[in-house]
Amino acid sequence: MKKNDLLEVKNLKTSVFNDQRQVCVVDDVSFSIYENSVLGLVGESGCGKTMTALSLTKLVGSAARFEISGAVNFNGKDLLSAPAKDLLRVRGRQITYIFQEPSTCLNPVLTVREQMEEVLRLHRKDISRSGYDKFLVEGLEKVGMNFAAQKLKTYPHQLSGGEKQRIMIAMATLSRPKLLIADEPTTALDVTIQAQILVLLHSLKRELGIAMLFISHDLDVIGEIADYIAVMYAGKIVEISPAQKLLLTPKHPYTKGLIDCLPQNCKDNIRRRKVIAGEVPRGGIYPAGCRFHPRCPDCMDKCRTRPPPVFRSKDAEEEVSCWLYSN
Ligand SMILES: Nc1ncnc2c1ncn2[C@@H]1O[C@H](COP(=O)(O)OP(=O)(O)OP(=O)(O)O)[C@@H](O)[C@H]1O
Ligand SMILES: [Mg+2]
Repeated sequence: MKKNDLLEVKNLKTSVFNDQRQVCVVDDVSFSIYENSVLGLVGESGCGKTMTALSLTKLVGSAARFEISGAVNFNGKDLLSAPAKDLLRVRGRQITYIFQEPSTCLNPVLTVREQMEEVLRLHRKDISRSGYDKFLVEGLEKVGMNFAAQKLKTYPHQLSGGEKQRIMIAMATLSRPKLLIADEPTTALDVTIQAQILVLLHSLKRELGIAMLFISHDLDVIGEIADYIAVMYAGKIVEISPAQKLLLTPKHPYTKGLIDCLPQNCKDNIRRRKVIAGEVPRGGIYPAGCRFHPRCPDCMDKCRTRPPPVFRSKDAEEEVSCWLYSN
């Protein structure tokens, strides 16, 4: 682990057992998240972003169906081999999650206050019960919630989508986490609310010094918030770079394709969006060689048979898995 690495993921592999078939949905994924920085993880639907995020703290479900290997170093500890009780101390406290659909994460029969108090009871033993009220109001104000004291008394169905996501963010920060994993946190929201939530997450990073793994299928949204961007395709990371470099000088043909698909890069007057031709491989059945080769405009003979290794730039800041970059 380097000095300012908060989380170092090495050769993470997650397989699912489905109908007596083993499917590898996250395949040999490695990346680091640095203190106080945001790593954006982008890729088309089904490429393994959520499974990567959940695997980091073994949140995937029953061990009989999922097998996770590799190493996830967090604060000098490997989370994948840590005893369950140690993992419980990390998950929900030092590493917290927010998801796309806040409604499914909030309990419909409990008030906002009851749900937030539960987080304090579990993760903030340093705060006495008599201090809860003040703390919760401040917690909601920090995430830009109007009428915070009244909102504590409401039930989830009385809140708008944006308000629910603010509540989720407040709950995910009450424990003073070091890392927030945000899986498509703005996808279900309309554009103006989406922009407000991004501004809020930015300010949490700045003011509370929280690092983030920010997941989205939308490179535009990722570009708004990420310091580094990792691009995922069919279970593998195909490129990682500092955000500006990746957006301005993408290397992998898949990254270039994603950038060409952005609405501002439409080349004709009728603003027709470009698409990447072909289909994403489904259900872990991947083509031989480079998994992107059937869709790749730059495909060479060896791409059809030999999986590309990772090529690093001299300063080790940029990584790309593509034969175009072999010397
Ligand atoms: N609980 C599960 N059981 C079996 N397979 C699963 C499960 N969850 C995900 N998968 C499979 O794992 C692969 C990766 O799914 P994942 O949800 O990580 O994709 P994603 O990149 O997050 O997609 P999206 O952008 O749609 O959220 C898919 O092929 C999916 O079918
Ligand atoms: Mg997902």
